Amino acid sequence: MSEFLQSLRNKINTRRKMTSPLYQTVLSGNASKRLLQQFVINRFPIKNHWTRNILGIASRIPDHPIRTELVENVFEEETGYFSKSKRHLETFVDFGKCVGVSQQQINAAPLLPETKAVIEHNIEACNTEIHFTAGVASVLLLMEGQPPVVTNENKSMLSVMKDVYKLPEEGYEFFVHHASNVELNNGSFAAVSELEEDHAATAEKILEIYCNTDELKIQALKYLDRAIDRRHAHFDAIYNLFYDASEPPFRFDEEE
Ligand SMILES: [Fe+2]
Ligand SMILES: [Fe+2]
Repeated sequence: MSEFLQSLRNKINTRRKMTSPLYQTVLSGNASKRLLQQFVINRFPIKNHWTRNILGIASRIPDHPIRTELVENVFEEETGYFSKSKRHLETFVDFGKCVGVSQQQINAAPLLPETKAVIEHNIEACNTEIHFTAGVASVLLLMEGQPPVVTNENKSMLSVMKDVYKLPEEGYEFFVHHASNVELNNGSFAAVSELEEDHAATAEKILEIYCNTDELKIQALKYLDRAIDRRHAHFDAIYNLFYDASEPPFRFDEEE
């Protein structure tokens, strides 16, 4: 791995999702119904732009095989075709429904300024005249190259949703397709699901080929710093506004 890629990877790893109190709380099984609802409401608008962000990058990639990898990623996202599931965003809304939030409520909720800042960053980096390598580093690699979201005991989002929050299958399907911890037969753990490993590899390939001047590399690093800052501000806003430790943790099977 080039020194440049390594420095991007280091930034992502140092401030990975699991360093945020929001994800730590959800993973600990202590999230209240209100926090899980607000998690869905406030994460949805960013996820709702995801495929358009990737397409903005793809539309500017001259190399056909690499562009095809991005198009396949988007096609799966939009349809669930390869995983024989459904549109990924729809499975996220299904998770929302199981914690008592509807698509109407999601659509009607005002955008937090911290959420707006993430969306604006992602659009600027992927869908404007800014060189696409800024988007690949600060949106594509940042999302696809996340280290596993797991507790110290190696409990994944999927296992917590299933075993602790007791969600039914339609509620945890999103986490099946976005699993970040796969226990292998030999007892070791794969970094991420196979699907996601490929996606991160595509992002790295694009950077190796096209992020080839000092100017572009500096820009990519700067955009990645900004993206990480804004993402954590967004996670922290959700946590600070909607989590109160005195509220009982959500359990699907105890709902009336
Ligand atoms: Fe997805
Ligand atoms: Fe992915």
